[in-house]
Amino acid sequence: MDNFTFFNPTKIHFGKGQISQIASEVPAGAKVLLVAGGGSIKGNGVYDQVKEALGDRTVVEHWGVEANPDYDTLLPAVDICRRQGIDWVLAVGGGSVLDGAKFICAATQYEGEPWAFMQDFGASVKAALPLGTVLTLPATGSEANPASVISRRAIKEKLCFISPHVQPVFSILDPETTFTLPPRQIANGIGDAFCHVFEQYLTYPVNAAVQDQFSESILRVLIEEGPKTLANPSDYDARANLVWAATNALNGILGCGVPQDWATHMIGHELTALHGIDHACTLAIVLPELLEAQRAGKGAKLLQYAERVWGITEGDDDSRISAAITKTREFYESIGIRTRLRDYDVTADVAPQVAARLAARGTSAIGEKGDITPERVEAILRAAA
Ligand code: NZQ
Ligand code: ZN
Repeated sequence: MDNFTFFNPTKIHFGKGQISQIASEVPAGAKVLLVAGGGSIKGNGVYDQVKEALGDRTVVEHWGVEANPDYDTLLPAVDICRRQGIDWVLAVGGGSVLDGAKFICAATQYEGEPWAFMQDFGASVKAALPLGTVLTLPATGSEANPASVISRRAIKEKLCFISPHVQPVFSILDPETTFTLPPRQIANGIGDAFCHVFEQYLTYPVNAAVQDQFSESILRVLIEEGPKTLANPSDYDARANLVWAATNALNGILGCGVPQDWATHMIGHELTALHGIDHACTLAIVLPELLEAQRAGKGAKLLQYAERVWGITEGDDDSRISAAITKTREFYESIGIRTRLRDYDVTADVAPQVAARLAARGTSAIGEKGDITPERVEAILRAAA
């Protein structure tokens, strides 16, 4: 196991009725910016609960943060924060709203054009407004991590920044707030969390037994509880397990002391930037072919995954690895996420384009061993056509 430092300071309030905790978490005299999306929180009662918990605090609202939050949608909120002396931000919604709020928190305290800290992946962020969140879509782990992914449609970019300054101070996870999610978004959440585990687990062995077995248990929970919650959206227990699985998939705990990949995400973000494909769908397109392309380097972990997650024990190494990759693709398809570029009306022409974009950004040696070159990215996407 490699050395690591682990610190996750986000306080989690989990369960029914926990939105009321906002009353004690946000300081009484705070001037709060409430950040929200397109309106789902009005339809399911979440907004009313949040407003009640905020009581008589001064609250300014910023609505309209879209899926894959856009730089140009967020800048006006930065302006509001500066002009109105906002000193707390409360994000209420899915990963996009949370990520958008993280950007607002950092940009408000940033000198110069905020796109600069997107381009240095957060390195130049030195301060941010404090952030609390109410998560209504289990998927990204944004509720308990320091990452934020921002799109800028005007220049067809989608970049990630990471800064400890935007780690949420607290997050409310009430599974009941997720009952109104449409099947597409429930599936996206399952598929995203599944891939988050993969990026940290499916590399090569370093004798990290706790991380490995925790990863495998989260994968099994997603495989077991995901279909249950799709079939019965108001099954509280299934949903509670899904919510907690998604948080643990990307709150930093699985990645302690182990090599990490993240190539599927990097390639996937380019597909969203170019074609607007949902984040989880891009992962479902890339992951099976990336595993196929990397089967030599990932062989030991693929065999471990095959046995411990899918119970595959028959056949030689090669056939067990193939069976595990097939199971992975079938799992995405079974929850309704298609796994080919053509399913999204995208042709193999995108392959050299994505490879060139990653190379131009200096990310031309990705994956846990830095052996996924632009040529291999192109081959992976051609195979995914
Ligand atoms: O805008 P509203 O009306 O709220 O509707 C949203 C949105 O249309 C809807 N929704 C959310 N909660 C709902 C609901 N509808 C009904 N009932 C509810 N309870 O769902 C739609 C999609 O929401 P979005 O927030 O975009 O989805 P998700 O949570 O999957 O977030 C995706 C974004 O997160 C980024 C992705 O790249 C993408 O931009 N990621 C962030 C990460 C992080 N911060 O660590 C890591 C991930 O790998 C990922 O890249
Ligand atoms: Zn993701």
